[in-house]
Amino acid sequence: MKRILSGIQPTNRLHLGNYLGAMRNWVKLQNEPGAECLYMIADLHAITVPQDPESLTRSTRETAAAYIAAGIDPSRSIIFVQSAVPAHSQLMWLLATMAQLGKLERMTQFKDKAGKNAERAGLGLFAYPVLMAADILVYQATHVPVGEDQKQHLELAREIAATFNTRYKTDFLIQPEPVITGPAPRVMSLRDGTQKMSKSAESDMTRINLTDDADAIAQKIRKAKTDAEPLPESEKGLENRPEAKNLVTIYAALADISRQDVLNDFAGKQFSEFKPALSDLAVSQIAPIAARMQELMTDVSEIDALLANANDRANNYAIPVLSEVERIMGIWK
Ligand code: TRP
Repeated sequence: MKRILSGIQPTNRLHLGNYLGAMRNWVKLQNEPGAECLYMIADLHAITVPQDPESLTRSTRETAAAYIAAGIDPSRSIIFVQSAVPAHSQLMWLLATMAQLGKLERMTQFKDKAGKNAERAGLGLFAYPVLMAADILVYQATHVPVGEDQKQHLELAREIAATFNTRYKTDFLIQPEPVITGPAPRVMSLRDGTQKMSKSAESDMTRINLTDDADAIAQKIRKAKTDAEPLPESEKGLENRPEAKNLVTIYAALADISRQDVLNDFAGKQFSEFKPALSDLAVSQIAPIAARMQELMTDVSEIDALLANANDRANNYAIPVLSEVERIMGIWK
């Protein structure tokens, strides 16, 4: 029996990269027989950098709406909010006693986010991976689908579980395996093929949002940066052509085929021919998600009820695990 847990931070700017890199894989995993899936909205991780309170609440809901609109079925998977399950924070403190400072200091995400001013970074940002370990271990998850950038955190979660088991002579905490569902597509900016597609890029034309309608998607692809050459015959011909490579990557990811397959169909063709095909494909996959999200956000009572139910179910999993960890550690409770 597989127990799968994953999550992303709530944001009001979910984009194509979030869909292709995370949610679409989660849908595939949900449809595997014998898999039990928990998909979380990591609002407690989001506040490791300053957040506007109102937008955080709204983004939390909108992210849940995106999960559902992307095809995660709330009757099969548990779509829940991290902060609604207090056991995550409680277990985090217990695990913090087993997380080494030296290892936390080596986390590349911390180094990137803290920047030059690490002295001023908050404790939350530093302890971020420990909370993530708690998220996973509190469900005794066996498998965790994550992108490349989160693999180091997952490795730390495995180490923390091992340290706990050794220190308390038990095998209670499960060391989770990373799940890499095919090569994660690196979706880059539509305006600069060397930059990751990002919610924080200033121009909205750099990304396809999960809330974009058909016209917006078509316009962004029409205006996407390219070069003057036709498409090459093989992947090698995409080297040093970051924008061409990005559009081919997006096509391949959306169609769920390899880049070479895309090139087999379009070699020698100009972008004036490739872009409309890409646009049709993107519109057919993304526009329905946007429409469903909008529907869910217009009357939030449905989504709030689904979350309330799933939060209860998540608590039912997490509370007994936390209690057992406390018992093993001799915590008075
Ligand atoms: N840190 C992850 C990210 O930013 C989100 C996350 C939080 C997560 N807790 C998790 C992912 C537990 C997998 C498992 O993408």
